[in-house]
Amino acid sequence: MKYLMCPPAYYEVAYEINPWMHVAQKVDKILAEKQWRALYDWMTAAGAQIELLEPIPGLPDLVFTANAGLVHGERFIKSRFRHRQRRHEEIRIERWFRAQNYDVTTVPEPYFFEGEGDALTMGSELYAGYHFRSDLEALDFVAGVLKRDYCALELKDKRFYHLDTCFAPLDAKSALIFAPAFEPYAYLTLLEMVEDPIAVPENEALRFACNAVSLGKKALLPSGCPQTRAAVEKRGFEVSELDFSEFLKSGGGAKCLVLKL
Ligand code: ARG
Repeated sequence: MKYLMCPPAYYEVAYEINPWMHVAQKVDKILAEKQWRALYDWMTAAGAQIELLEPIPGLPDLVFTANAGLVHGERFIKSRFRHRQRRHEEIRIERWFRAQNYDVTTVPEPYFFEGEGDALTMGSELYAGYHFRSDLEALDFVAGVLKRDYCALELKDKRFYHLDTCFAPLDAKSALIFAPAFEPYAYLTLLEMVEDPIAVPENEALRFACNAVSLGKKALLPSGCPQTRAAVEKRGFEVSELDFSEFLKSGGGAKCLVLKL
């Protein structure tokens, strides 16, 4: 399995576009490098092959490669970021994917789409979140390009502004879910569709327990989420914990830092 990551050389909290970000709260850059490196090492040890996107000064959120777009085989559906602060990332992202010979499609204006942050596959299903960052019209466009059906999930809690902050498929059966982040209808849909929904408690969801990464039978959780950890272990996963404190300052975690290629 191949993933895209971007080293945090220029990562910082330079603006505020979600409730987690406070420019006054400085990022410990050395610690951020260490945490990112630990994730890189965990991914490679779990068998992932990592491609690197070159970090660019002035684009602090480029590290969150999950938001670059959505990859499907040779096709790359590029994001259109909701906030102008992140829009400059688009050209860099497009350049990288074109250089790798992807067939690049862009979500049409005036709609926004934030990639794998809001679109996750689980088994044969595609789940996509909308409201804060991605638009429903954009999700329709994406599904149309992929010529497939998808399950639209409306988000309602601004602290959980991307789908990958409140929903984490572990495999085709089990997924971590923080229910209060979803509109009631979306939550009911998830309960109907997901065979084994695992409820994450609020205190752990606030540590970004749902921003988990799973590779085969290995799962990575943020540290300090014992209830979620126990539930994931019960499903037969070998769980590792890493600290993402510096990325949480930007409203991100492990899953936000990787994009499936
Ligand atoms: N600071 C970034 C933003 O607000 C964090 C992105 C987190 N990414 C994610 N896939 N949830 O856009």
